[in-house]
Amino acid sequence: MKLSPKQLEQFDRDGYLFFPSLFTPEETRTLNDAVPELYSRHEAWNVRESGSDAVRTNFAAHMSSKPFAKLARHPRMVQPVQDLLGEALYMHQFKINGKMAFEGAIWQWHQDYGTWMNDDMMPTERAMNVAIFLDDVNEFNGPLMFIPGSHKKGVIEAKHDLTTTSYPLWTVDNELIASLVARAGGKQGGIVSPQGPAGSMIVFHSCLVHASTSNLSPWNRVSVYLSLCAVSNHIRRHKRPEYIAHRDFTPITCLPDDCLLKDYPVDLPWQNGLPATALQTSTTPFDEMKQAA
Ligand code: SIN
Ligand code: MN
Repeated sequence: MKLSPKQLEQFDRDGYLFFPSLFTPEETRTLNDAVPELYSRHEAWNVRESGSDAVRTNFAAHMSSKPFAKLARHPRMVQPVQDLLGEALYMHQFKINGKMAFEGAIWQWHQDYGTWMNDDMMPTERAMNVAIFLDDVNEFNGPLMFIPGSHKKGVIEAKHDLTTTSYPLWTVDNELIASLVARAGGKQGGIVSPQGPAGSMIVFHSCLVHASTSNLSPWNRVSVYLSLCAVSNHIRRHKRPEYIAHRDFTPITCLPDDCLLKDYPVDLPWQNGLPATALQTSTTPFDEMKQAA
């Protein structure tokens, strides 16, 4: 799937592209069917909403679950990102966010690159986010919201919020959000939220400011978030466990377009559990560690 000059221009201006119904219901079902088993496990890689058993974020399903391992190599997902970054990619982070009916809590306003820079020492913003809806997303079940064009601001000052939700995040303060929204058109398009059926996909810039509200509706809003990074821009330290910030910088090789519906061999290195090394962390950049060794 090659992006058109119009799409490239749109991405440059707005910081995101929306592809409604990119995956068929049959393809999406293969992913949805694998979620309950993943969410049922009480493991470090399932972060739950505070005070609830509902899963907020499941990390690294592509390392142990075949349908998600295939999605991580799907050409309809990888190629647009490769077009935009013009380089081979590796998987920096892989999440299945629950935002479950009645339970899903907010995600504060933030840029993802702020976290990758501050926590993982990712050198530049040459990384991209992809969201794939596994449920229909509507105005009621906590859709992702963007401030169009906010990626042009580069890295915005952020503070490390450890208290608002069960997941720590580098967040942007309200005053700055208000001015970014005003600059993006205020009530006329200053905030947008792409909505559509399960199987829709959004590609968005790692500096695009985004957030989502809580889900008080009776409808789950399960979405997969894949963060792909240019290989040359790989992270420089392992401050976070490997299931959150991956350490294998091997370029992704795509499977054929029908991979979600057919059987293809994929590596599932964590099928029998996380290796102990995946939990090891350090605040020292790893090239400095190598020099010291
Ligand atoms: C995220 O920003 O990483 C998640 C946002 C959401 O799931 O709504
Ligand atoms: Mn985010």
